[in-house]
Amino acid sequence: MKSILKVLNGESLTTPSAWLMRQAGRYLPEYRELRAKTGGFFDLVYNPALAAEVTLQPIYRFGMDAAILFSDILVVPQAMGQLVTMDEGRGPRLGPLTDLETLHSNIGLFDTVAETVDRVKSQLDDKTTLIGFCGAPWTVAAYMLEGGGSRDFNTAKTRAYNEPALMSGLLDKIVDASAAYLIKQIQAGAEALQIFDSWAGVLSEQQFRDWVIAPTRKLIAKVKAAYSDIPVIGFPRGGALMIGDYVQQTGVDAVQLDTTFPTAMAQAIATDGVPVQGWLDPVLLLNGGATLQKEVETMKQAMQGLPYIFNLGHGVIKETPPEHVAQLLKALRS
Ligand code: CP3
Repeated sequence: MKSILKVLNGESLTTPSAWLMRQAGRYLPEYRELRAKTGGFFDLVYNPALAAEVTLQPIYRFGMDAAILFSDILVVPQAMGQLVTMDEGRGPRLGPLTDLETLHSNIGLFDTVAETVDRVKSQLDDKTTLIGFCGAPWTVAAYMLEGGGSRDFNTAKTRAYNEPALMSGLLDKIVDASAAYLIKQIQAGAEALQIFDSWAGVLSEQQFRDWVIAPTRKLIAKVKAAYSDIPVIGFPRGGALMIGDYVQQTGVDAVQLDTTFPTAMAQAIATDGVPVQGWLDPVLLLNGGATLQKEVETMKQAMQGLPYIFNLGHGVIKETPPEHVAQLLKALRS
Protein backbone atom coordinates (compact mmCIF):
# COMPACT_ATOMS: atom_id res chain seq x y z
CA MET A 1 0.00 0.00 0.00
CA LYS A 2 1.18 3.58 -0.69
CA SER A 3 2.71 5.16 2.43
CA ILE A 4 0.12 7.94 2.88
CA LEU A 5 -2.74 5.47 2.53
CA LYS A 6 -1.11 3.29 5.19
CA VAL A 7 -1.06 6.22 7.62
CA LEU A 8 -4.65 7.16 6.75
CA ASN A 9 -5.51 3.59 7.70
CA GLY A 10 -3.96 4.16 11.13
CA GLU A 11 -0.38 2.89 10.70
CA SER A 12 2.66 4.78 11.92
CA LEU A 13 5.87 4.98 9.87
CA THR A 14 9.47 5.44 11.04
CA THR A 15 10.01 8.13 8.42
CA PRO A 16 6.92 10.32 8.12
CA SER A 17 5.33 10.70 4.69
CA ALA A 18 5.05 14.26 3.49
CA TRP A 19 3.27 16.58 1.13
CA LEU A 20 2.60 20.33 1.39
CA MET A 21 -0.54 22.37 0.92
CA ARG A 22 -0.03 24.61 -2.17
CA GLN A 23 2.95 22.49 -3.17
CA ALA A 24 2.03 23.29 -6.77
CA GLY A 25 2.06 27.03 -7.13
CA ARG A 26 3.80 30.35 -7.54
CA TYR A 27 6.95 29.59 -5.50
CA LEU A 28 7.96 27.18 -8.31
CA PRO A 29 9.59 28.82 -11.37
CA GLU A 30 8.21 26.04 -13.60
CA TYR A 31 4.68 26.91 -12.38
CA ARG A 32 5.16 30.63 -13.00
CA GLU A 33 6.44 29.90 -16.49
CA LEU A 34 3.45 27.73 -17.43
CA ARG A 35 1.03 30.16 -15.79
CA ALA A 36 2.47 33.11 -17.76
CA LYS A 37 2.06 31.20 -21.02
CA THR A 38 -1.53 30.17 -20.28
CA GLY A 39 -3.25 33.44 -19.41
CA GLY A 40 -5.65 33.41 -16.47
CA PHE A 41 -5.59 31.14 -13.44
CA PHE A 42 -8.81 29.38 -14.44
CA ASP A 43 -7.50 28.87 -17.99
CA LEU A 44 -4.85 26.73 -16.34
CA VAL A 45 -7.32 24.96 -14.01
CA TYR A 46 -9.59 24.01 -16.94
CA ASN A 47 -6.80 22.79 -19.20
CA PRO A 48 -6.41 19.13 -18.14
CA ALA A 49 -3.05 18.60 -19.86
CA LEU A 50 -1.48 21.66 -18.24
CA ALA A 51 -3.24 21.23 -14.88
CA ALA A 52 -1.90 17.67 -14.78
CA GLU A 53 1.59 18.93 -15.53
CA VAL A 54 1.34 21.50 -12.71
CA THR A 55 0.07 18.82 -10.30
CA LEU A 56 3.13 16.72 -11.09
CA GLN A 57 5.74 19.52 -10.93
CA PRO A 58 6.44 19.16 -7.16
CA ILE A 59 6.46 15.37 -7.52
CA TYR A 60 9.13 15.48 -10.20
CA ARG A 61 11.17 18.14 -8.39
CA PHE A 62 10.98 16.87 -4.79
CA GLY A 63 9.44 13.38 -4.75
CA MET A 64 6.55 14.29 -2.47
CA ASP A 65 4.58 11.31 -1.12
CA ALA A 66 1.31 12.76 -2.41
CA ALA A 67 0.21 14.75 -5.42
CA ILE A 68 -2.68 17.13 -4.73
CA LEU A 69 -4.87 17.82 -7.72
CA PHE A 70 -4.21 21.27 -9.17
CA SER A 71 -7.59 22.96 -9.10
CA ASP A 72 -9.39 25.34 -6.74
CA ILE A 73 -12.19 25.33 -4.19
CA LEU A 74 -13.93 28.03 -6.28
CA VAL A 75 -14.60 25.55 -9.08
CA VAL A 76 -17.73 24.57 -7.13
CA PRO A 77 -19.34 28.06 -7.10
CA GLN A 78 -18.46 28.31 -10.79
CA ALA A 79 -20.14 24.99 -11.49
CA MET A 80 -23.16 26.24 -9.52
CA GLY A 81 -23.46 29.15 -11.95
CA GLN A 82 -21.85 32.03 -10.04
CA LEU A 83 -19.33 34.18 -11.89
CA VAL A 84 -15.83 33.73 -10.41
CA THR A 85 -12.71 35.54 -11.58
CA MET A 86 -9.19 35.59 -10.17
CA ASP A 87 -7.79 39.13 -10.18
CA GLU A 88 -4.05 39.33 -10.48
CA GLY A 89 -2.62 40.14 -7.06
CA ARG A 90 -6.05 40.74 -5.49
CA GLY A 91 -7.45 37.24 -5.25
CA PRO A 92 -10.88 35.91 -6.17
CA ARG A 93 -13.96 37.97 -7.05
CA LEU A 94 -17.42 36.47 -7.25
CA GLY A 95 -20.55 37.83 -8.92
CA PRO A 96 -23.54 38.93 -6.82
CA LEU A 97 -25.62 36.22 -5.17
CA THR A 98 -29.08 37.50 -4.28
CA ASP A 99 -31.23 34.42 -4.45
CA LEU A 100 -30.62 30.74 -5.02
CA GLU A 101 -32.92 30.58 -8.06
CA THR A 102 -30.38 32.52 -10.10
CA LEU A 103 -27.92 29.64 -9.75
CA HIS A 104 -27.85 27.05 -12.52
CA SER A 105 -25.52 24.13 -12.71
CA ASN A 106 -22.62 23.74 -15.08
CA ILE A 107 -21.55 20.22 -14.15
CA GLY A 108 -19.37 19.97 -17.27
CA LEU A 109 -16.65 21.77 -15.32
CA PHE A 110 -16.39 18.77 -13.00
CA ASP A 111 -15.74 16.50 -15.98
CA THR A 112 -12.90 18.78 -17.06
CA VAL A 113 -11.30 18.55 -13.61
CA ALA A 114 -11.89 14.79 -13.57
CA GLU A 115 -9.92 14.57 -16.81
CA THR A 116 -6.99 16.22 -15.01
CA VAL A 117 -7.23 13.61 -12.25
CA ASP A 118 -7.24 10.85 -14.85
CA ARG A 119 -4.17 12.26 -16.60
CA VAL A 120 -2.24 12.66 -13.33
CA LYS A 121 -3.12 9.15 -12.24
CA SER A 122 -1.82 7.63 -15.45
CA GLN A 123 1.55 9.36 -14.97
CA LEU A 124 1.97 8.71 -11.25
CA ASP A 125 4.29 6.03 -9.87
CA ASP A 126 3.07 3.35 -7.46
CA LYS A 127 4.38 5.17 -4.35
CA THR A 128 2.66 8.53 -4.68
CA THR A 129 -0.90 9.02 -3.46
CA LEU A 130 -3.26 11.18 -5.51
CA ILE A 131 -5.32 13.48 -3.28
CA GLY A 132 -8.49 15.13 -4.55
CA PHE A 133 -10.18 18.00 -2.70
CA CYS A 134 -12.94 20.54 -2.38
CA GLY A 135 -13.74 23.47 -0.12
CA ALA A 136 -15.96 22.77 2.88
CA PRO A 137 -19.55 24.05 2.60
CA TRP A 138 -19.03 26.96 5.04
CA THR A 139 -15.84 28.22 3.37
CA VAL A 140 -17.38 27.99 -0.11
CA ALA A 141 -20.56 29.73 1.12
CA ALA A 142 -18.41 32.43 2.73
CA TYR A 143 -16.78 33.31 -0.63
CA MET A 144 -20.15 33.11 -2.42
CA LEU A 145 -21.89 35.46 0.03
CA GLU A 146 -18.94 37.81 0.56
CA GLY A 147 -18.23 38.18 -3.16
CA GLY A 148 -14.50 37.57 -2.69
CA GLY A 149 -11.79 37.11 -0.10
CA SER A 150 -11.89 38.92 3.23
CA ARG A 151 -10.00 39.14 6.54
CA ASP A 152 -13.05 38.30 8.65
CA PHE A 153 -15.94 37.49 6.27
CA ASN A 154 -18.18 39.91 8.17
CA THR A 155 -20.44 40.46 5.14
CA ALA A 156 -20.94 36.72 4.61
CA LYS A 157 -21.64 36.19 8.31
CA THR A 158 -24.08 39.09 8.44
CA ARG A 159 -26.03 37.68 5.50
CA ALA A 160 -25.96 34.18 7.01
CA TYR A 161 -27.33 35.50 10.33
CA ASN A 162 -29.99 37.71 8.70
CA GLU A 163 -31.12 35.36 5.93
CA PRO A 164 -31.18 31.89 7.55
CA ALA A 165 -33.28 30.35 4.75
CA LEU A 166 -30.81 31.57 2.13
CA MET A 167 -27.91 30.23 4.20
CA SER A 168 -29.36 26.77 4.78
CA GLY A 169 -30.50 26.45 1.15
CA LEU A 170 -27.09 27.54 -0.02
CA LEU A 171 -25.26 25.09 2.24
CA ASP A 172 -27.47 22.24 0.96
CA LYS A 173 -26.75 23.15 -2.64
CA ILE A 174 -23.02 23.35 -1.95
CA VAL A 175 -23.12 19.94 -0.21
CA ASP A 176 -24.81 18.38 -3.26
CA ALA A 177 -22.44 19.98 -5.78
CA SER A 178 -19.35 19.19 -3.69
CA ALA A 179 -20.38 15.55 -3.25
CA ALA A 180 -20.81 15.23 -7.03
CA TYR A 181 -17.42 16.90 -7.53
CA LEU A 182 -15.61 14.60 -5.08
CA ILE A 183 -17.29 11.49 -6.48
CA LYS A 184 -16.12 12.45 -10.00
CA GLN A 185 -12.59 12.86 -8.65
CA ILE A 186 -12.73 9.39 -7.04
CA GLN A 187 -14.05 7.85 -10.25
CA ALA A 188 -11.16 9.44 -12.15
CA GLY A 189 -8.57 8.07 -9.72
CA ALA A 190 -8.34 10.16 -6.53
CA GLU A 191 -7.23 7.87 -3.68
CA ALA A 192 -7.85 10.21 -0.73
CA LEU A 193 -9.72 13.49 -0.29
CA GLN A 194 -9.15 16.69 1.68
CA ILE A 195 -11.92 19.11 2.63
CA PHE A 196 -10.57 22.64 3.18
CA ASP A 197 -12.49 24.72 5.73
CA SER A 198 -10.13 27.69 5.63
CA TRP A 199 -12.53 30.04 7.44
CA ALA A 200 -13.83 27.69 10.16
CA GLY A 201 -11.92 29.84 12.65
CA VAL A 202 -14.12 32.95 12.31
CA LEU A 203 -17.23 31.26 13.72
CA SER A 204 -18.81 31.12 17.18
CA GLU A 205 -19.57 27.73 18.75
CA GLN A 206 -23.16 27.41 17.47
CA GLN A 207 -22.22 28.57 13.99
CA PHE A 208 -19.35 26.08 13.96
CA ARG A 209 -21.84 23.33 14.80
CA ASP A 210 -24.46 24.49 12.24
CA TRP A 211 -22.27 25.63 9.36
CA VAL A 212 -19.08 23.57 9.75
CA ILE A 213 -19.91 20.27 11.47
CA ALA A 214 -23.46 19.61 10.18
CA PRO A 215 -22.90 20.26 6.44
CA THR A 216 -19.47 18.60 6.48
CA ARG A 217 -21.13 15.51 7.97
CA LYS A 218 -23.74 15.55 5.16
CA LEU A 219 -21.05 15.93 2.52
CA ILE A 220 -18.94 13.07 3.85
CA ALA A 221 -22.00 10.81 4.25
CA LYS A 222 -22.88 11.34 0.58
CA VAL A 223 -19.36 10.53 -0.57
CA LYS A 224 -19.05 7.53 1.75
CA ALA A 225 -22.43 6.19 0.56
CA ALA A 226 -20.86 5.89 -2.89
CA TYR A 227 -17.24 5.08 -1.93
CA SER A 228 -16.86 4.05 1.70
CA ASP A 229 -13.17 3.16 1.48
CA ILE A 230 -11.71 6.47 0.26
CA PRO A 231 -10.19 8.26 3.29
CA VAL A 232 -11.27 11.84 3.95
CA ILE A 233 -9.01 14.39 5.66
CA GLY A 234 -10.79 17.40 7.21
CA PHE A 235 -9.11 20.78 7.66
CA PRO A 236 -11.11 23.05 10.00
CA ARG A 237 -8.52 25.85 10.02
CA GLY A 238 -8.64 27.82 13.28
CA GLY A 239 -11.03 25.31 14.85
CA ALA A 240 -8.70 23.76 17.46
CA LEU A 241 -11.10 24.24 20.37
CA MET A 242 -13.88 22.45 18.48
CA ILE A 243 -11.66 19.69 17.10
CA GLY A 244 -13.04 16.93 19.36
CA ASP A 245 -16.62 17.35 18.15
CA TYR A 246 -15.43 17.94 14.59
CA VAL A 247 -13.57 14.61 14.56
CA GLN A 248 -16.34 12.66 16.28
CA GLN A 249 -19.31 14.09 14.42
CA THR A 250 -18.29 14.80 10.81
CA GLY A 251 -17.09 11.33 9.78
CA VAL A 252 -13.59 12.46 8.76
CA ASP A 253 -10.93 9.74 8.78
CA ALA A 254 -8.06 12.12 9.56
CA VAL A 255 -7.46 15.79 10.39
CA GLN A 256 -5.17 18.43 8.95
CA LEU A 257 -4.06 20.76 11.76
CA ASP A 258 -3.17 24.45 11.44
CA THR A 259 -0.06 26.26 12.63
CA THR A 260 -1.52 27.25 16.01
CA PHE A 261 -2.27 23.66 17.01
CA PRO A 262 -0.74 22.51 20.34
CA THR A 263 1.53 19.45 20.00
CA ALA A 264 0.04 17.68 23.03
CA MET A 265 -3.44 17.91 21.47
CA ALA A 266 -2.15 16.54 18.16
CA GLN A 267 -0.52 13.64 20.01
CA ALA A 268 -3.76 12.94 21.90
CA ILE A 269 -5.83 12.84 18.70
CA ALA A 270 -3.34 10.51 16.98
CA THR A 271 -3.09 8.33 20.12
CA ASP A 272 -6.87 7.89 19.88
CA GLY A 273 -6.25 6.39 16.44
CA VAL A 274 -7.18 9.41 14.27
CA PRO A 275 -4.32 10.17 11.84
CA VAL A 276 -3.14 13.78 11.93
CA GLN A 277 -1.46 15.86 9.27
CA GLY A 278 0.38 19.13 9.69
CA TRP A 279 1.25 21.68 11.11
CA LEU A 280 4.61 23.38 10.54
CA ASP A 281 4.46 27.17 10.26
CA PRO A 282 4.88 28.04 6.54
CA VAL A 283 6.99 31.03 7.65
CA LEU A 284 9.68 28.63 8.91
CA LEU A 285 9.76 27.10 5.43
CA LEU A 286 9.97 30.59 3.93
CA ASN A 287 13.04 31.34 6.08
CA GLY A 288 14.81 27.96 5.92
CA GLY A 289 18.07 27.40 7.78
CA ALA A 290 18.69 26.05 11.28
CA THR A 291 15.29 27.08 12.70
CA LEU A 292 13.48 25.07 10.03
CA GLN A 293 15.81 22.12 10.57
CA LYS A 294 15.24 22.12 14.33
CA GLU A 295 11.46 22.42 14.13
CA VAL A 296 11.14 19.61 11.57
CA GLU A 297 13.20 17.33 13.82
CA THR A 298 11.16 18.28 16.89
CA MET A 299 7.90 17.54 15.10
CA LYS A 300 9.14 14.24 13.73
CA GLN A 301 10.26 13.24 17.23
CA ALA A 302 6.96 14.30 18.82
CA MET A 303 4.90 12.20 16.40
CA GLN A 304 7.13 9.10 16.42
CA GLY A 305 5.04 5.92 16.68
CA LEU A 306 1.79 7.74 15.85
CA PRO A 307 -0.23 7.88 12.61
CA TYR A 308 1.18 11.14 11.24
CA ILE A 309 1.67 12.78 7.84
CA PHE A 310 4.02 15.75 7.67
CA ASN A 311 2.54 18.94 6.20
CA LEU A 312 2.47 22.68 6.84
CA GLY A 313 -0.18 24.44 8.94
CA HIS A 314 -1.29 26.40 5.83
CA GLY A 315 -0.16 26.74 2.22
CA VAL A 316 3.40 27.34 0.95
CA ILE A 317 4.05 31.10 0.84
CA LYS A 318 4.75 32.28 -2.68
CA GLU A 319 8.16 33.85 -1.87
CA THR A 320 9.48 30.52 -0.47
CA PRO A 321 12.76 29.45 -2.11
CA PRO A 322 12.23 25.94 -3.58
CA GLU A 323 15.59 24.88 -2.03
CA HIS A 324 13.99 25.21 1.40
CA VAL A 325 11.46 22.54 0.46
CA ALA A 326 14.33 20.24 -0.53
CA GLN A 327 16.03 21.02 2.81
CA LEU A 328 12.83 20.22 4.70
CA LEU A 329 12.40 16.84 3.03
CA LYS A 330 16.04 15.98 3.64
CA ALA A 331 15.66 16.79 7.34
CA LEU A 332 12.50 14.74 7.56
CA ARG A 333 13.86 11.73 5.70
CA SER A 334 17.34 11.55 7.28
O1 CP3 B 1 -0.94 22.72 -4.55
C1 CP3 B 1 -2.11 22.70 -4.10
O2 CP3 B 1 -2.36 22.87 -2.90
C2 CP3 B 1 -3.25 22.34 -5.02
C3 CP3 B 1 -4.06 23.35 -5.59
C4 CP3 B 1 -4.89 24.31 -4.74
C5 CP3 B 1 -5.05 25.67 -5.09
N1 CP3 B 1 -5.96 26.24 -4.26
C6 CP3 B 1 -4.38 26.34 -6.23
C7 CP3 B 1 -4.30 27.82 -6.26
C8 CP3 B 1 -5.66 24.10 -3.60
C9 CP3 B 1 -5.81 22.83 -2.75
C10 CP3 B 1 -6.36 25.31 -3.31
C11 CP3 B 1 -7.33 25.47 -2.21
C12 CP3 B 1 -7.90 26.78 -1.94
N2 CP3 B 1 -8.27 27.76 -2.83
C13 CP3 B 1 -8.27 27.22 -0.64
C14 CP3 B 1 -8.15 26.41 0.63
C15 CP3 B 1 -6.77 26.42 1.19
C16 CP3 B 1 -6.33 27.75 1.75
O3 CP3 B 1 -5.44 28.37 1.16
O4 CP3 B 1 -6.90 28.17 2.78
C17 CP3 B 1 -8.80 28.52 -0.77
C18 CP3 B 1 -9.32 29.40 0.36
C19 CP3 B 1 -8.81 28.85 -2.17
C20 CP3 B 1 -9.33 30.09 -2.81
C21 CP3 B 1 -8.26 30.85 -3.49
N3 CP3 B 1 -7.59 30.42 -4.63
C22 CP3 B 1 -7.74 32.11 -3.12
C23 CP3 B 1 -8.18 32.92 -1.91
C24 CP3 B 1 -6.76 32.44 -4.06
C25 CP3 B 1 -6.01 33.73 -4.16
C26 CP3 B 1 -4.92 33.85 -3.16
C27 CP3 B 1 -3.61 33.54 -3.76
O5 CP3 B 1 -2.85 32.77 -3.14
O6 CP3 B 1 -3.34 34.10 -4.82
C28 CP3 B 1 -6.65 31.34 -4.97
C29 CP3 B 1 -5.71 31.22 -6.11
C30 CP3 B 1 -4.88 29.99 -6.22
N4 CP3 B 1 -5.32 28.72 -6.03
C31 CP3 B 1 -3.50 29.93 -6.62
C32 CP3 B 1 -3.15 28.58 -6.65
C33 CP3 B 1 -1.82 27.99 -7.05
C34 CP3 B 1 -2.63 31.13 -7.00
C35 CP3 B 1 -3.16 31.72 -8.25
C36 CP3 B 1 -2.18 32.11 -9.31
O7 CP3 B 1 -1.52 31.27 -9.94
O8 CP3 B 1 -2.15 33.32 -9.58
